[in-house]
Amino acid sequence: MAIILKEPSRTFSEYLLIPGYTSENCVPENVSLKTPLVKFKKGEEPALSLNIPMVSAIMQSVSGPDLACALAREGGVSFIFGSQSIASQAKMVAKVKQTKAGFVPSDSNISPENTLADVLALKEKTGHATMAVTENGQEDGKLVGIVTSRDYRVSRMDRSTKVKEFMTPYEKLIVGKADISLSEANDIIWEHKLNQLPIVDEDQHLVAFVFRKDYESHKDHPLELLDNQKRYIVGAGINTRDYEKRVPALIEAGADVLCIDSSEGYSCWQANTIKWIRDNYGDSVKVGAGNVVDGDGFRFLADAGADFIKIGIGGGSICITREQKGIGRGQATATLDVAKARDEYYKETGVYVPICSDGGIVHDYHITLALAFGADFVMLGRYFARFKEAPNKLVSVNGNYMKEYWGEGSARARNWQRYDVGGDAKMSFVEGVDSYVPYAGSLKENVSLTLSKVRHTMCNCGCLSIPELQKNAKVTLVSSTSIVEGGAHDVVVRDQNFDAREK
Ligand code: IMP
Repeated sequence: MAIILKEPSRTFSEYLLIPGYTSENCVPENVSLKTPLVKFKKGEEPALSLNIPMVSAIMQSVSGPDLACALAREGGVSFIFGSQSIASQAKMVAKVKQTKAGFVPSDSNISPENTLADVLALKEKTGHATMAVTENGQEDGKLVGIVTSRDYRVSRMDRSTKVKEFMTPYEKLIVGKADISLSEANDIIWEHKLNQLPIVDEDQHLVAFVFRKDYESHKDHPLELLDNQKRYIVGAGINTRDYEKRVPALIEAGADVLCIDSSEGYSCWQANTIKWIRDNYGDSVKVGAGNVVDGDGFRFLADAGADFIKIGIGGGSICITREQKGIGRGQATATLDVAKARDEYYKETGVYVPICSDGGIVHDYHITLALAFGADFVMLGRYFARFKEAPNKLVSVNGNYMKEYWGEGSARARNWQRYDVGGDAKMSFVEGVDSYVPYAGSLKENVSLTLSKVRHTMCNCGCLSIPELQKNAKVTLVSSTSIVEGGAHDVVVRDQNFDAREK
């Protein structure tokens, strides 16, 4: 007979945290959100940790290189989507790794024979005022000068004026050598009162720019997540089909961590993928797996060697898996169940396998609840899709700025590998929708606000770290009438936009 679980499966909105004792020391500035990203043995440090418990979803409409850099700057990790060719995914990973914190590769190259009109058009396209003038106008050409908005006056100059007539030529430039450190570059910037310092290799090719404003921003990001060469940490999604080709390309491009992206991870395909990675790379390549929704699924993937395990089926905002296939579980119940299995596994084996609650985070407090329920970090799609750094298009819908947001299982993404069940069958029905989400501005501003709420709630619960919250949180179920009581009620609200970013 089938096993029937009597307890209904529940979502985060069905719970609230109950405050614990808050001591004088328990203030938001003292809260650490550091959390393990990959498994580690008792008494050892994980090889990779996050400084904030947030990673971005492995989705075309969410995780591209710009979002990856912006999130790493705040202390989290993006997983560059795998539903694209191996070459283009590897290129995106490489782009993040080339963006050494504070060193910005030029995306605006122009030739000395181009005109002021070309400069203005390029500025409009990239949004960047500083351009590298190279012999052939391409990235691989020798640097012969730079153009910034200080070099021309649009109102006084003919648009057909050649770049070579108004650029700052190479001979007049102060440049840094390719092996310069960020602080040495910054010293030169200050000494010579520069706005940017071109960094060139021995063949006079531009490697990157260091901008005065970026150095300052580097100091503004104390939690930024960098590797030992001061490059941003970045992840990448893989699938259970082409891993023999995709994994080497991603590792070569510099990916720090991989994750098998699948709607359902309790399968031999995931174990085979992890085995292939272990056989070929040992433990040096870190790989997460999932998604699962119960202890059995967790145990299977932990035994298979996964470095972290994702939880969640059917809870994503764009997801229609439960309607289409009748599989899934409320995200809160799934997280609780998997956390219990993770703790038992740790007790038995001495190996702590971090778990990630993936999908269904609607309100900021859902993040705190997921952590309280035992998650080590959360993965978010809709949340990040709203930001300017996401790779999806900004559009105007009925006068409102929106970002396009589509599921990996939608007809638009056509990511059939994510729904792989072996054999030759390809996706024959969709499990996701194509939608809009309200545009919310920059990642930094939103993540800061969200985490400020998380830190405050943790203080209310008397907890200064995620492990403390996992151990000490008190959580209560809510009734439908108490949910009504939880919002503004019995008043006429004057300011509907008290927190526009959350909507
Ligand atoms: P969100 O944060 O609620 O928007 O959920 C994002 C998560 O939904 C992702 O990390 C995936 O696990 C999942 N997901 C992405 N695309 C689809 C889809 O098309 N169908 C079902 N789930 C999806």
